[in-house]
Amino acid sequence: MTVITNIEDLRVLAQKRVPRMFYDYADSGSWTEGTYRANEADFQGIKLRQRVAINMEGRSTRTKMLGVDAAMPVAIAPTGLTGMQHADGEILAARAAEKFGIPFTLSTMSICSIEDIAAHTKAPFWFQLYVMRDRDFIERLIDRAKAANCGALVLTLDLQIIGQRHKDLKNGLSAPPKLTLANILNMMTKPRWCLGMLATRHRQFGNIVGHVKGVENMGSLSEWTAKQFDPALSWGDVEWIKKRWGGKLILKGIQDVEDARLAVDSGADALIVSNHGGRQLDGAPSSISALPAIVEAVGHQIEVHMDGGVRSGQDVLKAWALGARGTYIGRSMLYGLGAMGEAGVTRALEIIHNELDLTMAFCGHTDINSVDKGILLPGTY
Ligand code: FNR
Repeated sequence: MTVITNIEDLRVLAQKRVPRMFYDYADSGSWTEGTYRANEADFQGIKLRQRVAINMEGRSTRTKMLGVDAAMPVAIAPTGLTGMQHADGEILAARAAEKFGIPFTLSTMSICSIEDIAAHTKAPFWFQLYVMRDRDFIERLIDRAKAANCGALVLTLDLQIIGQRHKDLKNGLSAPPKLTLANILNMMTKPRWCLGMLATRHRQFGNIVGHVKGVENMGSLSEWTAKQFDPALSWGDVEWIKKRWGGKLILKGIQDVEDARLAVDSGADALIVSNHGGRQLDGAPSSISALPAIVEAVGHQIEVHMDGGVRSGQDVLKAWALGARGTYIGRSMLYGLGAMGEAGVTRALEIIHNELDLTMAFCGHTDINSVDKGILLPGTY
């Protein structure tokens, strides 16, 4: 097997090993995918200043995200259907994150449940909440996250309605996949994936199936979810959820300075500058280009995080220099998981950490907490 040296290697391997509909689900954006591509490309435009003849011994990338110790300012982003990239995907990714010493965020739309993750990890993980019309269900989900001792609630605000992703429609995305001839033929070329899924086929959307009256199987789930995301979500709901949760609250999906100010007013502890990995409003700016204005407006009042297009330690360092006190990785984690399960997620984290450590040193710093905009070439950000 080729030596895995970067996230792109993991992506290529995941493409070989994961059935097409699930690989495409991860590796796609909405409509023209312009924002999806810009998330990655705009990091490239930001240039770093190399410094020399500075003592580089004793380096550390250790910091805190929302008061939680982190081996580097990186957390695992919440991603739906992660257990379809690899059997038990959410458990494996959570374990890798715990061993590495970074926060893990579980999606509402995960295959493994809140209780599954709590049973397989010790570190408090974070839970991501989608607001559905069924408010009783939301209350029960929040209570389950509390019972599992989750360290923060990540409330996603940018998916009241769903941006169209062409590939998912063309592939007829469903979990588990429908047994059409095309799907069966494609899955036969992915024997590792099939064996894993056969061993864990009892797993469904664990946060939902069996927890909502009338949603007892996949068929009833798809009908339920199609109608469930609440287009009427408002800042009043944020207030209600904050009260019900009572713990640390992170608002995800902020792109605009006005919304960042409203996030501060809501009393949230942190916000994530995010365009959902280019999967919602195509044509929106990349996250890294939206970040500086938001940091300038509210960075002194609330902890600002970001996600979107983070594929390397260089990206993490650039986001940190521009004021993000944490980044999240979605696809970089999913590629690792699809390629090699838990070992692949660990490899993704090692790659990003190693790149971050060395890049920081090239820029003349030994402690990430001392890094600021000064490492960036003026005029390139
Ligand atoms: C996501 N994202 C997401 N966000 C969220 O709040 N809840 C979710 O269930 C999902 N599901 C999901 C599935 C997949 C396959 C992807 C790629 C993304 C968005 C995710 O949390 C994050 O914002 C992006 O993934 C960040 O961009 P990168 O790192 O993937 O470029």
